[in-house]
Amino acid sequence: MKPALADATRGRILFGGDYNPEQWPEETWQDDVRLMKQARGVNSVTLGVFSWSRLEPEPGAREFGWLDRLMDLLHDNGIGVVLATPTSSPPPWMGRLHPDTLPRDADGHIEWWGGRQHFSHSSATYRRYAAAITEDLAARYGTHPALTMWHINNEYCTADHGDEAAAAFRRWLRQRYTTLDALNSAWGTAFWSQGYDTWDGILPPRRAHHYLKNPGQVLDFRRFTSDMLLECYTAERDIVRRHTPHLPVTTNFMPLWIGQDAWRWAREEDVVSVDLYPDPRDPLGAQHGALVQDLTRSQARGPWMLMEQAAGPVNWRGVNHPKPRGLNRLWSFQAVARGADAVCYFQWRQSRQGAEKFHSGMVGHAGEQGRAYQEVRQLGAELERISGDVSGGRIDADVVVLHDWHSWWAGAHEGRLSTLVDLPEVLTAWHRALWEAHLTTDFAHPEHDLSGYRLVVVPQLYLLTDAAVANLLAYVRGGSTLVCGFLTGVADEDDRVRTGGMDARLRELFGIRTLHEWWPLEAGETVACEGFRGTLWSEEIEPEPGAAETVPYRGGELDGLPAVLRRGRAWYVSTLPEPDALRTLLSGIAAGAGVRPVLDGLPAGVEAVRRGELLFLLNHGREQITVQVPGTHHDLLGGTDVTDEVTLGRHGVAVLRS
Ligand code: GAL
Repeated sequence: MKPALADATRGRILFGGDYNPEQWPEETWQDDVRLMKQARGVNSVTLGVFSWSRLEPEPGAREFGWLDRLMDLLHDNGIGVVLATPTSSPPPWMGRLHPDTLPRDADGHIEWWGGRQHFSHSSATYRRYAAAITEDLAARYGTHPALTMWHINNEYCTADHGDEAAAAFRRWLRQRYTTLDALNSAWGTAFWSQGYDTWDGILPPRRAHHYLKNPGQVLDFRRFTSDMLLECYTAERDIVRRHTPHLPVTTNFMPLWIGQDAWRWAREEDVVSVDLYPDPRDPLGAQHGALVQDLTRSQARGPWMLMEQAAGPVNWRGVNHPKPRGLNRLWSFQAVARGADAVCYFQWRQSRQGAEKFHSGMVGHAGEQGRAYQEVRQLGAELERISGDVSGGRIDADVVVLHDWHSWWAGAHEGRLSTLVDLPEVLTAWHRALWEAHLTTDFAHPEHDLSGYRLVVVPQLYLLTDAAVANLLAYVRGGSTLVCGFLTGVADEDDRVRTGGMDARLRELFGIRTLHEWWPLEAGETVACEGFRGTLWSEEIEPEPGAAETVPYRGGELDGLPAVLRRGRAWYVSTLPEPDALRTLLSGIAAGAGVRPVLDGLPAGVEAVRRGELLFLLNHGREQITVQVPGTHHDLLGGTDVTDEVTLGRHGVAVLRS
């Protein structure tokens, strides 16, 4: 059996963060360990994420002494180590001696050293150096008792349009299409005289004329980039696995990041981990967190790891706000409620130099007395208290939201009808409706087995493969309920628009005879529908007479035509209803499908999640609030029993066992 997060947690919740001691004199290390132990729950740190130039100060050299001392120090103090391969930030000598390791953007500009992630995924030289340092790290520390897990690279994200990448792109395309005819057909190169007569003529989508690029080429380049980065990951993973087959391996995702097909990547990981930084000022920050957590849990198919969050402000937004008192704790418990068995931060000690010196740490510039550390200390103790009850616990959802990177990529082409249609926003709007209705929600790929769910929600799947269409049809035929948002089923796997503007089988499913026109809306414009207002998009649909129940548009060009269609258990929503309306619509559809909210009568701003035997209640508001919870429960954080109701303070949390 392959290793899992449980092999690292061993029944606890991992709590800690990225630790970059190479930025500090060794005396500080002693203080770090003292503070970690004092915050009792700190049981894990991630070492070495950006240590390459320290480990290999010149080509082929190795300086492990400092890391030896650290590994020993941490182990002696009972702190486990997630050891990173340092390959996301090559030392300056690499770019200087080997310019072929540097990526190029679409304009042909080199992405130089001086920041980070300046490596070409296709560079044989980069890969050789990355493999060598990984091999030596694994050989040296594979048997070290502090080691609990491997962390490969960091937030893989760099595309490359250079010559070595171009050659790799051609190889990748040959594998995908075998013949040039197949490629020409998939890319629709008859348009604008783009037919290729030789593989050598094919380039990454570099800067062309100022107008639109070939969508097939752009889509395949995104696929290729995701695959090449994945190759870099699996190459390093396989090296560490050879040394430590019993230890789990991860690489950290960015939340809802467009650059990686995270379904595919997750299959290659033992632990799925994510970095999550909702904006403390965003009124929907908690929902953004919930969405990313639901997605990550679904990719992990079980417990997952919050690899990074911030104890206070980040420093990469325009204006960076601290977390108000209690918010760090609240959002950490939210992650645990939604399946995390590891709650970690970037980073342990806030830097005094470097690009992120104003990014918070678990120990901020204010030091031990500062609020950041004091809150971390309290949280660590609380997590330790509940970890035995929660760790490994699973979450059951009756609702599943479908999402697919390939569809996102294809739908994001610059030549679409409305650039206001942005998939993350559409996905967020639909997830928000479910979240506010207290419906526990998984995510899935459109070709996954959906049979365990009562309700499948498709906010938008512009591109649907034939297999995905068949999956949806079989699901509805099997007696379950499906609701789809606009711009779904428009294109096939090659981004070729399906005849009729929507897959014919889906049109039949929803009772659509003809989809005459798409009518995108301007920013801020709304369209009246019977009982609600739609935003962003509308459609001129002629229904199949008598086939479907409909909710019509009112007034304007589309007056009387269906905004919403329902045929049996299949629903189609051709606009984006305003938030309250979408929530009402989805709650009604869910109730009809037999899906119950986590708790009835929850006050606004309180989130409820069941994980295993536990009920988590989270107050996202700043006012004290009382929640009705029929029966007697044990409050794990308060250590008392509560009957029928529980009161949550500002940003308060209760973890109840019935
Ligand atoms: C992450 C990254 C960390 C740090 C952090 C700052 O994207 O992995 O190294 O930069 O953001 O928020």
